[in-house]
Amino acid sequence: MTSPRRVLITAALPYANDHPHLGHVAGVYLPADTYNRYLRLKGVETVFICGSDDHGVPVTISAQKENCTPTEVVARYRGIQEKVFSSLGVEFDHYSGTSTCEGHAELSQEFFSKILEAGDIEENVTDQFYCESCDMFLPDRYVEGTCPHCEAEGARGDQCDGCGQSYEQSELDKPHCAICESTPRIVPTKHWFFRLDRYEDRLEEWLEGCEGWRDNVRNFARGIVREGLPARSITRDLEWGVPVPLEEAKDKVLYVWFDAPIGYISFTKEHFKGTDNPEEWREWWSDKDVELVHFLGKDNIIFHAVIWPAMLMGQGEFNLPTSIPANEYLNFMGQKFSKSRGVGVTAEEILESFDADRVRYYLTTVAPEGRDTSFTWEDFIQRNNDELSDVVGNFAHRMLTFTAKNFESKVPEGAENSEFQNEVLQVIREAKEGWDDALDRQKFREGLEKVLKMTRQGNRLFDQAEPWKSRKSDLSRCGADLAVLLELVYALAVLLKPYLPTSSEKLLSTFVSCAPSASDALELLGTENILRTGCDLHPPGIIFPRLELPEDGSDQA
Ligand code: 2FM
Ligand code: ZN
Repeated sequence: MTSPRRVLITAALPYANDHPHLGHVAGVYLPADTYNRYLRLKGVETVFICGSDDHGVPVTISAQKENCTPTEVVARYRGIQEKVFSSLGVEFDHYSGTSTCEGHAELSQEFFSKILEAGDIEENVTDQFYCESCDMFLPDRYVEGTCPHCEAEGARGDQCDGCGQSYEQSELDKPHCAICESTPRIVPTKHWFFRLDRYEDRLEEWLEGCEGWRDNVRNFARGIVREGLPARSITRDLEWGVPVPLEEAKDKVLYVWFDAPIGYISFTKEHFKGTDNPEEWREWWSDKDVELVHFLGKDNIIFHAVIWPAMLMGQGEFNLPTSIPANEYLNFMGQKFSKSRGVGVTAEEILESFDADRVRYYLTTVAPEGRDTSFTWEDFIQRNNDELSDVVGNFAHRMLTFTAKNFESKVPEGAENSEFQNEVLQVIREAKEGWDDALDRQKFREGLEKVLKMTRQGNRLFDQAEPWKSRKSDLSRCGADLAVLLELVYALAVLLKPYLPTSSEKLLSTFVSCAPSASDALELLGTENILRTGCDLHPPGIIFPRLELPEDGSDQA
């Protein structure tokens, strides 16, 4: 007997200083959740891990601005994040945080020590920016300036949002302190550097074999490796973070991007703690047949597709990523989401007016899978109304009301091998196969389009069969035609399950006593009639009422 497929899914750890906005949801958390639900529906074993990225400068700057401690900032935002994800139906198996997870600091220090022992970390005295008026070194986001690669202004000390490149801060042009705006001076300080150059060959060979990856991820990573990888400092002059495990570095911490991805492992370990098999985490990270899938936004590609794999190679005990479905950006009415400029809408805000499934639906239809896309309120309302209400909801409603009126809400008897039946079953089968193939390739928008296409075809086939006529002339044919169209409604409920968990559950409950479970039914969809003849249906009423624009919606920015 072959053992079931196992997939460990992670979603990029959000910094614990922000409200998740719709760009984050569309690019990372929703596709990750949809993928997890899809795999589970197919009977694949999965573990779905996330948590907050607590360390580093994003959090200390917020603490400074909000006049409180980093621990307080983390506690507040972690609570917000958990609430948002759960209201959106994004269901992690474990949500932790890098500052609170037991064993996270130790594991991060172990990574450091092991890579150091291998001779792949070297120390170096470097010039760092120091702000006299703030009396501190200015790591990462504490300093801003002009990007040395693309010349974008407002580039941070460690990475440019414009081109996605990351660099040493001394390369930044026109630097200024992000807190007080003054020009910092340069002061030498000792740091530890990860010798990425020693991994170039292994990374290149590994990336070469990563087939089936999205082009944006693989090409970007290969380009960076081919250019040559400079050593990168992985320590910082900060108090907040994982202490560097060296006597002579007592006042320094590990760079946030060093400890953050290790969170994927330490959170998995925490997840299994207290279970019957607390050591199971190791299987998920070391068994060669387990697939490791990291969902993230494009600004995180370099870390997950180059630096993190090098860390894993250096540490040596754990699997490398199997795939890295990174998305481009979802913009808001054509502009980049930005808290400071007040552009965008947070997940909490939209959920005040709309159900999670409406948000999930729209964000999947505009998923920034291959290019940047844009959220607009008009489009949000229109797609929900034109597609979810008028096509999906309407089709299910039509079939179920017709069955209620003419067959007392019981599944009518089907007709073996009628031409109409074969045609409908083929529509279902093709949709299911296309859906499966798209989701397997992590093309969520395409998978949803297959479901919508199937529903449109269902509507057309109903019109073509004209059961309102055959009802009078040939009731059994009318019933048989309807029976197979009800199969299509049931298929709709099953195929929507990964996308719209609440609504699909409602629709599935219509068939509660008439069909096998969604998982058991999946393989049978479109091969035969699977609903039990004569069985009582429980129509759910209107599932997707038409939406209206919230009063202040169109000018919300
Ligand atoms: O860009 C970000 O929001 C980072 N906090 C993502 C970290 S992902 C992982 F490596 F932890
Ligand atoms: Zn300053």
